[in-house]
Amino acid sequence: MSNESNISGVFARQPAPLQNRSGRLDPFDWYREMRAEKPISYDEERRAWDVFRYEEVRTVLSDHETFSSDTTPQDAPEMDGPNPLSESMLNVDPPEHERLRQFVDDRFRPGAIRDRRPYVETVAESLLDDIEGETFNLVSAYSFPLPVIIIAELLDIPTDRRDEFKQWSDALVAAPREQTEETLRENEQRRQQSMMEMASFFRDALKERRGGDGDDLVTLAANAERLTPTEQLGFCILLLIAGNITTTNLITNAIWSFAEQGILNDVASGIIDREQAVEEVLRFRSPVQAMSRVTTEDTELDGTEIDAGERVTAWIGSANRDESVFDGPDEFQPERSPNRHIAFGNGIHYCLGAPLARLEADVALSVLFDRYDTIETTDDPLHPVSSPIVYGVESLRLHVE
Ligand code: HEM
Repeated sequence: MSNESNISGVFARQPAPLQNRSGRLDPFDWYREMRAEKPISYDEERRAWDVFRYEEVRTVLSDHETFSSDTTPQDAPEMDGPNPLSESMLNVDPPEHERLRQFVDDRFRPGAIRDRRPYVETVAESLLDDIEGETFNLVSAYSFPLPVIIIAELLDIPTDRRDEFKQWSDALVAAPREQTEETLRENEQRRQQSMMEMASFFRDALKERRGGDGDDLVTLAANAERLTPTEQLGFCILLLIAGNITTTNLITNAIWSFAEQGILNDVASGIIDREQAVEEVLRFRSPVQAMSRVTTEDTELDGTEIDAGERVTAWIGSANRDESVFDGPDEFQPERSPNRHIAFGNGIHYCLGAPLARLEADVALSVLFDRYDTIETTDDPLHPVSSPIVYGVESLRLHVE
């Protein structure tokens, strides 16, 4: 049984160019270099292949017969029992994938999600009501709590425990700032501890709700007879994490990018289309920069031979800057059209939560713009989120009037 999953474990190791603050804040020069010189390359230190160009990244993400999402290493050390995340839809291939995704698909369709808009607006308004003064940290006051409260509501779990949910989620995708054997080991211990706490939390919730008639996603999972108890647990944990860390960064990266480009007022007043501008944020500063797979057989990718059983990292953040697909890829063009970004993935694992993430970002921005006449970022230095997967900043200070 696996103790690794697609969003944790050995992936805590970052490639050398991304092991420092400036590299993590701006990985795009490295991506460009790699697309030009070594678009498919092997990193000895991480024992993984890296894929940087749009077409190949799409192939790695969608060709599940050759590139499996079951990233379980053969020699994984055992934790206390199975890692539930490795039995979630994110980490399995067909036919299991369909079984694990189908039972919830309806709940996340755009129509169902649209009905949630008034509630998301109420939460966004109340978070802004709680802000004191004219200078605040957008991340802690707004872009972090908003998606957590919404996913906690969908799961019907207490929103006042959201700081704990954040600690758990962060630990699962974290990488140590300085990468040594010791920090990697500590990182792994924190990850396992968080996983156990999350598992214990949801195990109790699932037990309580089994047979119940609630409309929430924990009850839906608890009553899903085609899912094993570990799969039910994996589903709840995956949703809490996925609904939490990614959209936070989309909202923050949007304000960061609009301010940097000097277009905050134009987006706020509607001169620039808000929804299109968010799509460009998804491309330009993709909240999920990379996802991984393992080859099921010897294969060839654009002329490069890759043996069976190798790890392959698909750099979504690089694909979204590929000059063969996007004109002026390093320019932020808020009304770019077409915009064929793959920030939500490609193929059968395409993000379940994409409609929800788009709705949350749209509401977050419109409520913020309605509330204040002027919004400016301060000069405080930016610190990147320390993760090999998630891209954003830990804090973004705003001055508003
Ligand atoms: C801006 C926000 C988000 C981004 C950029 C994002 C990105 C992604 C990406 C790239 C994948 C594909 C993973 C792969 O191919 O291995 C994915 C899958 C997934 N996402 Fe999201 N996500 C976001 C928000 C959300 C939200 C809000 C939820 C849930 C409430 C969510 C739930 C999921 C789930 C369950 C999967 C697995 C789908 C599957 O394996 O079939 N995501 N996401």
